[in-house]
Amino acid sequence: MSDFTSGFWPIYISVLTLASIVGTWVFLKSQTTRKFAPGEKAELMEHTWDGDLQDFNNPLPRWWLGLFYGTMIFALGYLALWPGLGNYAGMLKWTSIGEYEAEVKAAEAKFQPVYAGFMKQDIATVAADPNARAIGKHLFLTYCSQCHGSDATGAKGFPNLTDGDWLYGGDPDTIVATITNGRNGVMPPWGQVLGAEKVRQVANYVLSLSGRKHDATLAAAGKTVFAENCAACHMPDGTGMKALGAPNLTDKVWLYGGSEATIIETISKGRNGVMPALTQTLGTTSNKDAKLHLLAAYVYGLGGGVANTAEPAPAAPAAEAAAPASPQAAKMYFDTGKAEMSAEATAALQPIIDFAKANPDARIAISGYHDATGSAAANAELAKNRAKAVRDALTAAGIAEDRIELRKPEVTTGEGGPAEARRVEASII
Ligand code: HEC
Ligand code: HEC
Repeated sequence: MSDFTSGFWPIYISVLTLASIVGTWVFLKSQTTRKFAPGEKAELMEHTWDGDLQDFNNPLPRWWLGLFYGTMIFALGYLALWPGLGNYAGMLKWTSIGEYEAEVKAAEAKFQPVYAGFMKQDIATVAADPNARAIGKHLFLTYCSQCHGSDATGAKGFPNLTDGDWLYGGDPDTIVATITNGRNGVMPPWGQVLGAEKVRQVANYVLSLSGRKHDATLAAAGKTVFAENCAACHMPDGTGMKALGAPNLTDKVWLYGGSEATIIETISKGRNGVMPALTQTLGTTSNKDAKLHLLAAYVYGLGGGVANTAEPAPAAPAAEAAAPASPQAAKMYFDTGKAEMSAEATAALQPIIDFAKANPDARIAISGYHDATGSAAANAELAKNRAKAVRDALTAAGIAEDRIELRKPEVTTGEGGPAEARRVEASII
């Protein structure tokens, strides 16, 4: 393929190149006709420089001329063998792409047996192999570090891959899917829809989810805004949805930042994190799959990897939980300091009631939790009262009290952010 877009330039360049070589040759020849006759000596020329510098009329030295002609012969030889004259490809048909491909082929042949060995192992095993990690690190530096950082700890908008916090999931299958197909996290902009005031309210509610400093009045108003606009993706309890890459808002890990200003910016303008599909970049070489395998293993082994089976499917939101016939467990959330069931909590309990009614043998265990703020004694009491409120709701719905078991958990402080922690879990046993 030619880089020239017009037929004129290749000819122009060729003619100019050859003409200057031939021209130099002719010029040199014309200047070297004089030789000393036997016995002749160099004479001083007539002219002077600056009044006292004078030249001899020596002929050009032979060795110097030899070098000059040699250079021209070399140039002609080079132009005959390699590309240099316009479109002429050279007798050797060398191309830079051809050379690159040959090098890649040689490298692949060298790595093929090594890669083949790793391909036979699963990702967790490969991740534990120091040699595989070394290769994986190289690949990561080539293909991933420009966005995720050379130490994979990420940056604003680019997730940290070394922690256990995953947008999409840290099990081998999900990591492979992420790298293969890329990801696009879409957080719609809410500024126009909600207006500045509601954005501030919901931002303060988001701050409260992870226990950050917030304005309680604004946050209380923001709770409704959240339930109406955000819960569909971030879940009613704010713990996020991996299928969409909607981040958990109750932990202390931020993709874009956890200050009020940044959260407001995120909510008003939306976010659109794009991870490109790497299958293109990895090329069409036979080692593509192996590179993917090694990269996935490298990411898996960075510290946050989880086993394939341990990755729970995203929890269904309370409203949707009514559909399945056999709920194993339900979570009811409570307001700060309160042991009264909200409408949402009642709705979340409904599947358990339906199941218990349809299966007279089923029994129900209830455990209450509280958040980490407040005195221990008051909290323990609160957790118990919350569990009792759920029990009362069950008996009111017609479930016999002897089918219900109140279980005090070993640790009554719930995990997760405060909103997540203030809950009662009811499970079928
Ligand atoms: C052009 C920038 C870019 C490059 C290059 C890139 N990534 Fe990403 N990656 C991202 C962004 C942005 C996200 C988050 C996507 C989102 O916000 O939904 C992401 C997400 C991920 C995730 C999901 C993390 C989670 O929490 O679930 C993994 C895993 C990942 N990248 C691995 C890689 C690997 C391995 C490579 C190299 C082969 C790579 N990335 C190259 C930008 C990049
Ligand atoms: C359509 C699903 C969807 C809805 C609805 C949605 N979000 Fe998001 N949100 C996302 C996704 C996906 C991301 C991650 C964006 C990315 O990866 O670039 C995100 C990111 C965020 C972040 C950034 C978190 C961080 O770690 O920096 C905040 C804060 C947030 N959303 C709050 C909200 C609030 C408040 C609402 C309601 C007003 C809302 N979201 C509605 C999907 C959604």
